[in-house]
Amino acid sequence: MAGIHTIQYCDSSSHDSVFAALSSPALRPVVLGFATIGVTFLSYKLFSFVRLLLSLFVLPGKSLKSFAANSNPRNSWAVVTGATDGIGLEFVNQLANTGYNIVVVSRTKSKLDLVAENLAAKHKGISTRSLAIDFSNAGQSDYAALSSLIQGLDIAVLINNVGRSHDIPVPFAQTPQDEVDAIVNINVHATLRVTSIVLPGMIQRKNGLVLTMGSFGGLIPTPLLATYSGSKAFLQQWSSALGSELSSHGITVELVQSYLVTSAMSKIRKASASIPTPKAFVTATLKSIGRSGGAQDFAHTSTPFWSHAVMQWFVGTFAGFTSSFVVSRNKVMHEAIRRRALKKQAGKKDR
Ligand SMILES: NC(=O)c1ccc[n+]([C@@H]2O[C@H](COP(=O)([O-])OP(=O)(O)OC[C@H]3O[C@@H](n4cnc5c(N)ncnc54)[C@H](OP(=O)(O)O)[C@@H]3O)[C@@H](O)[C@H]2O)c1
Repeated sequence: MAGIHTIQYCDSSSHDSVFAALSSPALRPVVLGFATIGVTFLSYKLFSFVRLLLSLFVLPGKSLKSFAANSNPRNSWAVVTGATDGIGLEFVNQLANTGYNIVVVSRTKSKLDLVAENLAAKHKGISTRSLAIDFSNAGQSDYAALSSLIQGLDIAVLINNVGRSHDIPVPFAQTPQDEVDAIVNINVHATLRVTSIVLPGMIQRKNGLVLTMGSFGGLIPTPLLATYSGSKAFLQQWSSALGSELSSHGITVELVQSYLVTSAMSKIRKASASIPTPKAFVTATLKSIGRSGGAQDFAHTSTPFWSHAVMQWFVGTFAGFTSSFVVSRNKVMHEAIRRRALKKQAGKKDR
């Protein structure tokens, strides 16, 4: 008992002396300075979380119809790339539901024909044009064909959706050259070329929406998907810069950030709270045009799906997107995915 008393006595006396030192007139300005910094920092973080919630759940986005001539989508067109499956096909359907005429551009002619047929069956009075381009090796004649396809059309909305990732996570040094070239051609060159073709019309009519699919792979450096990650980071910077250039022309530019969505590319079929279906993802995207969602720190960018946005806020706030800790965790995760994918491939070969 005597020992315990002694320890308690020592503890409270050392606390007392710390408090005494901190409240001494000499240290008071320093303590006050640190307290002010702490309170300001916490208030800023609290404010940014409230902003996130308002952006996701309360404040409305720009109306999709506002980009059309006379706010009537029947007079205008939307161009969607990578339009026959996954997120792109969902953009097509939701834009058609709003009343836009649609230009669909994608790789496989038979799938494009099917999309056009379905649109015609579902939406009376909506016109569709389609063009098959393989963006992995598209040349001058492909882009010239796109230019003439949209000649004279009032293009109000461009959805730069087409994208390709690596077949499975793979170290850069082992990535087949044709895979690297295809990713850069599709994600970067095609996006730039298609945008260059569509923009002059939008600039002329001083209105329009250019929406480009980014990825958390571009936000967080992703080992074993290095080329995909770099290509999406390129789109992030390009789109933020383009948005600033075009705001004085009345054109809205938005890079859409996303974690996983169920699709052929993600190879995930079952939706969950953190992995939405294309339908849920595109609904959130088109409802929040012009709102940042979880992408407050990036100009002309939105992370529209609520769980992706919250994830982004926590990583950005507590770890940093490009910190060594986050990148190394990401590497461990993709090494595990690679191991599983190789095992699956080996299993298939054995059968
Ligand atoms: N799904 C995700 O988890 C996720 C996450 C973040 C970001 N994203 C981004 O979202 C976008 C759409 O992804 P998704 O998952 O919806 O993809 P998806 O389901 O695999 O659909 C891809 C679409 O692009 C077309 N396409 C593929 N290669 C092409 C090529 N070489 N030339 C022309 N068209 C081509 C496909 O046409 P065919 O059917 O003819 O091949 C298809 O219409 C991509 O930019 C992707 O990076 C996706």
